[in-house]
Amino acid sequence: MSDKLFSPSKEFSRKARISQMERYWEIYNRSIKNPEAFWGEVAKRINWVKKWDKVREYDFVEAKIKWFEGGTLNASFNCLDRHVEAGFGDQIALIWEGNDPSKSTTFTYAQLLEKVQKFSNVLKNLGVKKGDRVCLYMQMIPELPIAMLSCARIGAIHSVVFGAFSADSLRERINDSTCKILITQDTGVRGIKNDIPMKANADKATAKTPSIKHVVVVKRTGEIVNFEENRDIWWHDEMEKAEPKCEPEIMGAEDPLFILYTSGSTGKPKGVLHTTGGYLVYTSYTHEMVFDYHENDIYWCTADIGWITGHSYIVYGPMANRAVTVMFEGVPNYPDYGRFWEIVDKHKVNIFYTAPTALRALMKEGDDWVNRNNLSTLRLLGTVGEPIKEPEWLWYYNKIGKSKCPVVDTWWQTETGGILITPLPGSTPLKPGSATLPFFGIEPVLLSEDGKEIDGNNVSGFLAIKAPWPGIMRTLYGDHKRFRNTYFSQCPGYYFTGDGASRDEDGYYWITGRVDDVLNVSGHRIGTAEIEGGIGKANGVAEAAVVAYPHDIKGQGIYAFVTLMTGVQPDEAIRRGILEMVTKEIGPHAKPDKIQFTPALPKTRSGKIMRRILRKISENDIEHLGDTSTLADPSIIDALVDGRI
Ligand code: WTA
Repeated sequence: MSDKLFSPSKEFSRKARISQMERYWEIYNRSIKNPEAFWGEVAKRINWVKKWDKVREYDFVEAKIKWFEGGTLNASFNCLDRHVEAGFGDQIALIWEGNDPSKSTTFTYAQLLEKVQKFSNVLKNLGVKKGDRVCLYMQMIPELPIAMLSCARIGAIHSVVFGAFSADSLRERINDSTCKILITQDTGVRGIKNDIPMKANADKATAKTPSIKHVVVVKRTGEIVNFEENRDIWWHDEMEKAEPKCEPEIMGAEDPLFILYTSGSTGKPKGVLHTTGGYLVYTSYTHEMVFDYHENDIYWCTADIGWITGHSYIVYGPMANRAVTVMFEGVPNYPDYGRFWEIVDKHKVNIFYTAPTALRALMKEGDDWVNRNNLSTLRLLGTVGEPIKEPEWLWYYNKIGKSKCPVVDTWWQTETGGILITPLPGSTPLKPGSATLPFFGIEPVLLSEDGKEIDGNNVSGFLAIKAPWPGIMRTLYGDHKRFRNTYFSQCPGYYFTGDGASRDEDGYYWITGRVDDVLNVSGHRIGTAEIEGGIGKANGVAEAAVVAYPHDIKGQGIYAFVTLMTGVQPDEAIRRGILEMVTKEIGPHAKPDKIQFTPALPKTRSGKIMRRILRKISENDIEHLGDTSTLADPSIIDALVDGRI
């Protein structure tokens, strides 16, 4: 922990929406004292067809949450039509930067609206109706946000599956929410990879997805792909034929907007469901306040739309605010390590939001890449996805922000829909590594093992939230019982985040990471059970246990302890088989960094794997293995210690 304080410059504060801590506390206290009045006021920023009857209704014991019940609206209307109707049709909405540095294009709000209306009609022609699920399996191409907004326009529920997921993962997600249509692309390009087999994966997945009626394929590279007559259709063919006008469907505030699968502590991914009104109010409001967004600012969030950060802070939040948003197809190190800064320079980016893992990777390559570009347009920097440590924070602040841009370290989750703990850039004094203070309307608490609130400062515990905010998820698709069990039963009466945190002497929050079996690898959330399930299917494997170990670039690396079937020898073929199986079952991002073969796993007499011991071994911290006397076979420790990698 660092106790250095970085206060916003006078110049930044002067123009900021919230420029003093007194003002922050005044609004914060008001938002907590009277949440209904507060959120009722905030919700006016959105265009409602009909105003709500009740701002908020909830029961954290039954896990029932409603916001703006009785209100009606349409998310795509809010993100597009209303800006065009207000005379801003010619304003740029999206700047798309291709993987290839010579390729970029822009879309105005009017152009996006035109495409969204047409694609909405394409979906309708394919029989998609309000409430139907549509799966989107794409790379970062403009058709992805266009397809999302089209679903929103006709009331279909989109389920975006991150483009690096395998065919098996895609199939599982399609089947869980019985999607009717799959939208994908021929092949994808990302960094040096120029043939990511999107359509081929989609074909493998849809071999066993009875609910899929059609597959819409975007021609991104022109690679020849398999095409199934009657089922597969080209995006461009249908768009050419589509009618230009499509009226937005009037949706209830609590009608579902999308499902996004995320990892939990068991193997099966969870279909986090967000609804329309509250989500849009919350993402739009946080986007404006946390990033201090002002008209004409060029804003770039480097996340992939396949994750929640892209949903909330590339698509819905910024577009509801009529922002100018950069969307990037590539990776930070292609063609070289200067790519991010080149893009900032090229598009004159003012607000830049990225993940600590990217900063660590770039920092390691030295400052030349930074110095080559003009970064003077930058005004504000942000991070998300994992704890940021002091060295990369200082590098970001000093080298990228030239010591004049506030860094907002934003803590939130797929489940929360938007940012919950964050500095407000014009007022909050920053401490490197701390997400600082709660956003308006958010009441974080720290709980002890037995679910009691821990008062005062200089304390730590499980991070939970006391009452709902408009952007919180409403259920897990098709499994409300699991929703209630996972988030509301461990500490009854609270939303349980799954993170640990401490609160320092100034009341600032420091997130320490997951307290459940979820890993955070390069900002990607992966369940240990999912990886273990994948390894378990590989040839010769009897059992596996996966833990995280500190990794210089990824934040957390994946360390797998594997026992083999009797008589099977650990060799290169077995190792390769494990990596291939994990790639097939989940995707390349879930491949273990280290595999240690061991004759047995450390288990208690009741058969429970003692992960604490494995974690210590993976961290090379043999001194602190702790009590091993409850192991069924304590002699296994020596073998585990000797076999360390
Ligand atoms: C972690 C990403 C520390 C945390 C938006 C959380 C963070 C999980 C931060 C959610 C941060 C996210 N500091 N840890 N600023 N932001 N996390 O669902 O463990 O992909 O529970 O949502 O990322 O990951 P998810």
